[in-house]
Amino acid sequence: MRHSITRSEELFKEAQQVIPGGVNSPVRAFKAVGGTPRFIARAQGAYLWDADGNQLLDYIGSWGPMILGHNHPAVVAAIQQALSEGLSYGAPTEREIRLAQRVREAYPSADLVRFVSSGTEATMSALRLARGYTGRDRIVKFRGNYHGHADSLLVQAGSGLLTGGTPSSAGVPQAFAELTLVADYNEPQALEDLFQRYGEEIAAVIFEPVVGNAGVLIPTPTFLEALHHLTRRYGALLIADEVMTGFRLAKGGAVELFGLKPDLICWGKILGGGLPVGAYGGRAEIMQQVAPLGPVYQAGTLSGNPLSMAAGLATLETLFQDPPYERLEAYGAALEQGLQTLFAEAGLPVAINRVGSMITVFFREGPVQTYTEAVASDTERFKAFFHGLLQRGVYWPPSQFEAAFFSTAHGPEELDKTLEAVAQALKEPAAFAG
Ligand SMILES: Cc1ncc(COP(=O)(O)O)c(C=O)c1O
Repeated sequence: MRHSITRSEELFKEAQQVIPGGVNSPVRAFKAVGGTPRFIARAQGAYLWDADGNQLLDYIGSWGPMILGHNHPAVVAAIQQALSEGLSYGAPTEREIRLAQRVREAYPSADLVRFVSSGTEATMSALRLARGYTGRDRIVKFRGNYHGHADSLLVQAGSGLLTGGTPSSAGVPQAFAELTLVADYNEPQALEDLFQRYGEEIAAVIFEPVVGNAGVLIPTPTFLEALHHLTRRYGALLIADEVMTGFRLAKGGAVELFGLKPDLICWGKILGGGLPVGAYGGRAEIMQQVAPLGPVYQAGTLSGNPLSMAAGLATLETLFQDPPYERLEAYGAALEQGLQTLFAEAGLPVAINRVGSMITVFFREGPVQTYTEAVASDTERFKAFFHGLLQRGVYWPPSQFEAAFFSTAHGPEELDKTLEAVAQALKEPAAFAG
């Protein structure tokens, strides 16, 4: 039953000769769980096939974009049509208007939308815009929230909560990090303290409205209230990073689901349907500060690329024509319930956090609401869970601190397969010994 992974092993060795760590984004290297990453050869619906021909039931979905499953016919057809018309012009096209209109249909508060090529570019540009608009330099982010790899965002909390941050990556200047204040998610009092000290200097607060990047953390109503209230009171902008949650949790993402009122919103992932896209948008009065209308510079050779726009349009149109959110919720609820039962039967304490089609099983007692609670999970048990599933053909994210995603291609058969794999994995009690 164990998969043979000889070809993935060979490719991983070869990849490491020419690519740092053999991968082009660190989490793909399986460092948190050990073992050899599977090299993927193709994908269809809810499944991937690795280079050795093993079929894998996919709970990563390219880290979020593939809400319609892999190779959805409407998306593939739209890309093929665009392909026949040329790859990139560096000039405006009609598809950019249509996609911006679709974004605005889902997020009516976004009067204007600017397309870029990744989520990183979207958040980086939104922060520059917030600084340009407010004339202030400091920003606030939350521990365990990830917004891409721009310098001012690769920052962790400094020595005291009420100090500027310190770089969380080599190569980030301390001077940049000092302008980033790091607060704790779901801890409104700490945010209030920060604003009391620095309120007049803060350009923006950026946050994940449901955290995916510490594992799934769900915002409490008092935290959301504090975000809105404090940013308003001190004249800072509130930036909702919907790169992961946008078009996934609802048509209008977390903004719709929780009734949020951010000043700026960032998107990515689903918006590109599997091709590289990001975007940021908001009220006209703010967005009009962006070049060529205003003084905040931001540009991109491949921004609004025809293939990416076509894939994004087909994805959003498919989602909007037949909204899948109730079906995704039903799958998620059944998965969550099934997992709860299996872990309870095995006597293993877990906290399962889920919103719609994003889910994390934390290996510790619940509740898990904060970053500190999330990082106290038992990562050794997580490793056993991950490898137990992978050997049985279920491809869960290779880190305790990542969200698993499922798609409209996941149905009853996939649910049974998943729960059967978990049940079998849990029969290896030695692997889960604490
Ligand atoms: C919430 C969030 N924001 C921003 C990003 C960065 O997006 P990208 O990887 O497209 O640069 C990510 C990536 O995972 C994300 O999850």
